[in-house]
Amino acid sequence: MNDDVQRLPISVTVNGDERVLEVAVHHTLLDVLRDDLALTGSKECCLVGECGACTVILDGRTVDACLVLAVEADGTSLTTIEGLASEGRLSPLQAAFLDHGGVQCGFCIPGQVVSAHALLQDNPHPTRADVDEGIAGNLCRCGCYEQITEAILRTAEASGR
Ligand code: FES
Ligand code: FES
Repeated sequence: MNDDVQRLPISVTVNGDERVLEVAVHHTLLDVLRDDLALTGSKECCLVGECGACTVILDGRTVDACLVLAVEADGTSLTTIEGLASEGRLSPLQAAFLDHGGVQCGFCIPGQVVSAHALLQDNPHPTRADVDEGIAGNLCRCGCYEQITEAILRTAEASGR
């Protein structure tokens, strides 16, 4: 570790658990999730806010974790892809991604699922246009958009909320 690097304490609630840690001031939230907390579901890809592979929910709103400094997350509550399954069981949304063949290489999928989860929390009955808008910030190089959209729409239908 470089001793010249300034570190600051932060306290963050991650998937329901309070975590207190010291972070380097120049590290992003994505760095801290992956390297300090071993939550590697959020993917490291473009690192400039273009692809959405690192999407997490911060105080109820989706953000690209590569664009947020870890110190900015002090005092917030975060949900990452690891927080969506409960007791080792996939959420209905995660299962729908599998059922509808929305997963090819899988690299974009954590970010897609987190964005879709946030969308369905805000809008339990989205139209196809709402879904398109909800995942517009999540790129899929495998081109699975149709299957991903179907998975989200069918999850909304099945929830009957
Ligand atoms: S890695 Fe964060 S948006 Fe691409
Ligand atoms: S499934 Fe490969 S990038 Fe989306």
